[in-house]
Amino acid sequence: MKLAGRAALITGAGSGIGRAIAHAFAEEGARVAVVDRDEGGARETAALIGAAASAFVCDITDEAAVSAAFDAAERAFGAVDILVNCAGVGDRRPPWEISVADWRRVIDINLTGAFICAQQAIARLAKAGKPGAVINIASVAGEVAVPDHVAYVASKHGVVGLTKALALDCAKFGIRINAIAPGSVETPLTAGLLAHPDAAKRIGKTHPLGRWAQPEEIAKLAVFLASDESAFMTGAIVAIDGGFLAGRPV
Ligand SMILES: NC(=O)c1ccc[n+]([C@@H]2O[C@H](COP(=O)([O-])OP(=O)(O)OC[C@H]3O[C@@H](n4cnc5c(N)ncnc54)[C@H](O)[C@@H]3O)[C@@H](O)[C@H]2O)c1
Repeated sequence: MKLAGRAALITGAGSGIGRAIAHAFAEEGARVAVVDRDEGGARETAALIGAAASAFVCDITDEAAVSAAFDAAERAFGAVDILVNCAGVGDRRPPWEISVADWRRVIDINLTGAFICAQQAIARLAKAGKPGAVINIASVAGEVAVPDHVAYVASKHGVVGLTKALALDCAKFGIRINAIAPGSVETPLTAGLLAHPDAAKRIGKTHPLGRWAQPEEIAKLAVFLASDESAFMTGAIVAIDGGFLAGRPV
């Protein structure tokens, strides 16, 4: 049990990668606050896990709602010592077609939302004098550009910067901040692409291992980064991408 006695708050845990992380954390002994703006998804994840999980409905771009979700999680489980910033959205459009409103929506959720949640977690841990871990779900699109995702790419590059800046500032509190950079993962977010077998296959082949990842594979890395096994890691951007960032297979 790598996370026995820990309390984790996971945003975007009503679906996909966040749901898999919630499962994996509970299996390792953590109590899990399943946070999502989608009430049905959050409740479903909590119900699948059982007594170790509770669902909290919250839009991560709303500071007051995030603070209230942390308060509620604390009442249910005690102080949150692990935060996973997993909530995120995509927007597949060329730069000349995306509206400024949609650009702002992507940046607001993927980057500012992650900051709002991290700020809550860090302030509470530092005040209590407790160590902790924050894990940001970035993307390979936080390291290189991918076509037709200008706001997403900018937001995930921002998450990489956020991770490094917070790591530097929070090390003195014993709070470790790391990011995971997944390649393509089969989730509801990518269901539109997966519905087109040719496109799905082509994208799989951009990863040298020749396939998409399953959410459970990302969750195993999140367990490692949340646990004491990664005690000397902070500010790291860990790719789990089937070799995507290593280079293109010919
Ligand atoms: N699927 C991939 O290929 C892939 C690859 C790299 C990175 N990621 C990142 O992983 C994370 C999870 O993606 P996923 O594929 O599991 O997607 P998903 O759509 O299955 O899950 C995302 C969840 O975030 C929630 N959410 C969105 N906006 C929110 C908000 N404002 N407040 C609270 N909750 C909100 C959604 O309701 C949803 O339940 C995202 O940050 C995404 O960018 C995904």
